[in-house]
Amino acid sequence: MISTFPNAAAVDLSRIRLEIRSLQPRLVEWRRRLHQRPELGFKEKLTAEFIAQKLSEWGITHQTGIAKTGIVAIIEGKQQDSPIQKPKVLAIRADMDALPIQEENEVPYRSQHDGMMHACGHDGHIAIALGTAYFLSQHREAFPGTVKIIFQPAEEGPGGAKPMIEAGVLTNPDVDAIIGLHLWNNLPLGTLGIRTGALMAATESFTCKIHGKGGHGAIPHQTVDSIVVGAQIVNALQTIVSRNVSPIDSAVVTVGRFHAGKAVNVIADTAEIAGTVRYFNPELGKLIPQRIEQIISGICASHGAKYELDYNGLYPPVINNADIAEMVRSVGLDIVETPLGIVPECQTMGGEDMSFFLQAVPGCYFFLGSANPDLGLAYPHHHPRFDFDETALGMGVEMFVRCVEKFYA
Ligand code: NI
Repeated sequence: MISTFPNAAAVDLSRIRLEIRSLQPRLVEWRRRLHQRPELGFKEKLTAEFIAQKLSEWGITHQTGIAKTGIVAIIEGKQQDSPIQKPKVLAIRADMDALPIQEENEVPYRSQHDGMMHACGHDGHIAIALGTAYFLSQHREAFPGTVKIIFQPAEEGPGGAKPMIEAGVLTNPDVDAIIGLHLWNNLPLGTLGIRTGALMAATESFTCKIHGKGGHGAIPHQTVDSIVVGAQIVNALQTIVSRNVSPIDSAVVTVGRFHAGKAVNVIADTAEIAGTVRYFNPELGKLIPQRIEQIISGICASHGAKYELDYNGLYPPVINNADIAEMVRSVGLDIVETPLGIVPECQTMGGEDMSFFLQAVPGCYFFLGSANPDLGLAYPHHHPRFDFDETALGMGVEMFVRCVEKFYA
């Protein structure tokens, strides 16, 4: 196979890097344009138009309107292998949506959409994926296969990955592996968070309505106090992580809402508690909801209260395939130039619907360090002052392009 990305030749590596560096002003321009016009999940209309317009401009085959606003671009390399051999397909995924947050940054490219903001960096993900698409479309001779670039809506909820898979984005042609990245302000610019196995946690939620028996605050013996019952439930739920989950595993059960009562002298008839559950080990997906229900039902029974429990699994854990993670890591090592630049201790209990793609095909999701505290670019994701060092955009394109090279090597 003749490649314009020969692995060993440092001269060619620097040529790829130089060519990608020359794209930097355009990456920044695209990212800022997208940043000015953030849109919420499944409403990424202008965003999708922008992406489709660029792909058309570059002569890249693409399909729009998948799972409402999603887009899939297909870049076929020049086939250099034997015609009998089925060419491999690598998918690259970028999410497109923004958040319902009012931007507080005073930058020329600040959000022009009131109450909406790209506060997680998905504008950067689109720019990186577009840069990768452009580069690959200009170097089709360099890979003997097909690269599918998936622009996915609604990552922040309710989730666009699952409907895109249901719409068939991983088939025709069938995807062999998938990669994706998240700009990451928990890591400094110039580093990468890459690991095998679980990277991000499953995201689930529950709501429980407790039905007691209301009454006069001074006559408690004639009531079933839903606040007392709820308080015991909140306390007992803490024992799930401390006493049911192995200390080697990580999990979170957080009660984020407890609503009950109106008046100081009235015992509340009903109380509602709601919370979020996070874990890496898929086995806990059975244990935790089971324990939540046992605790609620036991405490309610002991007080003569009734309950309604609603448990929702939103996203499964993000679990990286060992082989693809190793491929991404070896590419990353060349890019960060020191093993210390790869941070495997980058797990987070945050969730991501990239997990659905990773359940369907082997793949690797990784973090691209984007914080630069010296420039004031270190606010956490989902913060109204979130912003990142745009130098990371070129690094992201180089990671994807070199992963394509490695995948077909
Ligand atoms: Ni995000």
